[in-house]
Amino acid sequence: MNYGRIKSFHAEGNRVEILFEHQKAAITAITDEIINIFSPGQSEINHSFAIEGDKSKPVNVIANMVGNYIVISTSKLAVYVYDQCRVNFYTSDGTVLCRDYKGEREAQGVAIISKEAAEQARMEGHVLTDGLTRHAIEVVKCIEGDEYFYGLGDKYSFLDKKGYDFEMWNSDLPEPHFESMTRLYKSIPFLLVHREAVNYGIFFDNHHRTYFDLGKENDGYYSFAADEGNLDYYLIYGTTLKSVISGYTYLTGTTPLPQLWTLGYHQCRWSYENRAELLSVADSMRENEIPCDALYCDIDYMDHFKVFTWGESQYPDHRKMLEELQKRGFKVVTIIDPGVKKEEGYFVYDEGIANDYFVHAPDGSVYENVVWPGDSVFPDFGRRAVRNWWADKQKCMTDDGVAGIWNDMNEPASFRGEIPGDVVFYDEERASTHREMHNVYASLMAKATYEGIRRHTGKRPFVITRAFYSGAQKYTTAWTGDNQSHWSHLRYAIAQLCSIGMSGLAFIGTDVGGFGANCTAELLCRWTQVGCLSPFFRNHAAKGTRHQEPWAFDRQTMEICRKYIRLRYRLIPYLYDCFRIAEAMGIPVFRPLVLNFEKDANTARINDQFMVGDWIMAAPIVDQGKVSRDVYLPKGCNWYDFHTGERFPGGSRILREAPLDTCPIYIKEGAILPLWPVMNYVGEKKVDCLELMVFGSDGTYTHYQDNGEDFAYRDGEYNLYQFMRRNGRLSIEMTHAGYAERYEAFKVTMNGKTFKIKFSGRKLVI
Ligand code: GLC
Repeated sequence: MNYGRIKSFHAEGNRVEILFEHQKAAITAITDEIINIFSPGQSEINHSFAIEGDKSKPVNVIANMVGNYIVISTSKLAVYVYDQCRVNFYTSDGTVLCRDYKGEREAQGVAIISKEAAEQARMEGHVLTDGLTRHAIEVVKCIEGDEYFYGLGDKYSFLDKKGYDFEMWNSDLPEPHFESMTRLYKSIPFLLVHREAVNYGIFFDNHHRTYFDLGKENDGYYSFAADEGNLDYYLIYGTTLKSVISGYTYLTGTTPLPQLWTLGYHQCRWSYENRAELLSVADSMRENEIPCDALYCDIDYMDHFKVFTWGESQYPDHRKMLEELQKRGFKVVTIIDPGVKKEEGYFVYDEGIANDYFVHAPDGSVYENVVWPGDSVFPDFGRRAVRNWWADKQKCMTDDGVAGIWNDMNEPASFRGEIPGDVVFYDEERASTHREMHNVYASLMAKATYEGIRRHTGKRPFVITRAFYSGAQKYTTAWTGDNQSHWSHLRYAIAQLCSIGMSGLAFIGTDVGGFGANCTAELLCRWTQVGCLSPFFRNHAAKGTRHQEPWAFDRQTMEICRKYIRLRYRLIPYLYDCFRIAEAMGIPVFRPLVLNFEKDANTARINDQFMVGDWIMAAPIVDQGKVSRDVYLPKGCNWYDFHTGERFPGGSRILREAPLDTCPIYIKEGAILPLWPVMNYVGEKKVDCLELMVFGSDGTYTHYQDNGEDFAYRDGEYNLYQFMRRNGRLSIEMTHAGYAERYEAFKVTMNGKTFKIKFSGRKLVI
């Protein structure tokens, strides 16, 4: 965009409007640390699908012209605006945060090849790129040299994304995912930049197709760009990476506390074809004493893939079945796709046609494409009336006893080619296009699903989605889509989960065991070891692949899976505490080491270890045949081997034996881990005695307790306990008492001894 020179500016409140020769822009201080840069392209103001409500706080903004540029300051930041709308950001002490690149763009290392050679390569299917790609809206920022680039959601890549390029365009890619894929199911245009002394985030709130180049074109700069929409981005400053994530989730919302049962083990398959098969899975879980809370009905439970129906022939008397499963401690989650079967007489289709709820072809007819049910039509979720209707439809499922809804194919996927860009989708009252609404379609569907479940049940809705746009973490959990039973996919799962967590979505998991291709016994064991520490823990496999339930291989595999699924249940109170932090501050549950130890430069690019919360670190095996590995223990504290109790100094690299039944897990010194007894499902045993495992001599831990089900906690119905270890003693104090059920006792393991102690008052010192 050619802005030309600065002509004038006008400051009012926390906003500075700048007139350039050919364009205008506004710089708004949302808070002292968050600055929005906006310049109209498609519209005068942005309709954000990520940020709901006004997030501005009172900020004392000072704007002055200094020579030929404008300096805009808050108490934390200084923003310099130059001709051509070039913008530099500094902290208030003058440290460079990020500066616009002012030189000419130049693609480095582009191979010059003849037309004929290029044609030949294309014949074999090679995709050739040729240098610079220009976009109508583009921001190019200097690479200062020491940057690490994190975030950007689910991209199939390593933790540090420097040197790669990415695209935000929600895509259903059933083929095996690999490193050079630039896009996947989710669009989270939030980039975290970490330098030795500096952290900041860029949130490019443009929901159209967008592009990020992180030093691939040229190692002297990085860029983000779009061809449509507005120039609308936020610079989010923070003294730590965690505070940058908190800034981003302050804008876009945090992941709300889930129901407790959702933290249990979930078993899925495409599909448990009928009632007998689903019940036999339930039987095997209990017979083998493998804890499990959720079973899934994938698309084949429906009557001819018609959403909100059950096929009587496969699932006769499904209400009774759900009720019986419920009594045995199983919740059932059903899949609901957006594609509605085109069939007169089918109530969802008829209602949608009667009320004009489906998207239209440019000629005004209802647009059709093909998905699982064959010819299908697509609800126009951008309109409130359609979302309300869809929310009401959830009642068909929740009244029957369904406990959660799994939204799939919501990119939206379609089998007769991608929906053309000019198909008419609405953004509330405004006629828009598929091109514009594509990336937010799934988020709007998830929001409708969330609101429906909440309205009909009063419980914290459990919604799972495949596609996603920034901000949908307020309404839905997600999984990483169709991975494969490949070792490389297990390895990448760690960086993927870390990246998604850093992008604001805390409730996330992979298909454990891998979805496509055939799992092996060894891979299932290793994947279950990672899965049991992931926020969302679900084993899932595709049609036609071999079974991969824990008992589907041999006794040893079943026992190893059971061991780690049981560990998961032991850890539920700890995970729940992590979720409370995620809701309060946006800090993810599943974290890369660098998030907790950013001062330790060795952690910046670790892709095969991860943290769960502040205290647990895992170094799983992600390679076939490996039975030992090196483990890096971050600096600044000691670490305890969870299995042996052995203590190691931080900053060391150790070799750990890891036979198939062992996932190396380390606990940071100072931890006071809350644990449950093993149980077959959440709620099977009333936990009136909480176990505490104490590691080391000094530490503080806050533990949270509520009914694990509804929203009463938001009115104060919860308890907080503070555990403190000092001078050889442990104190337990209730610091908030709002929930009637309390622990009556604690079982403490400390200094090699385990003992039980009654708790009746508010404070106890041992
Ligand atoms: C898609 C989903 C997968 C599901 C299948 C059938 O491939 O990603 O999880 O099992 O559709 O519904």
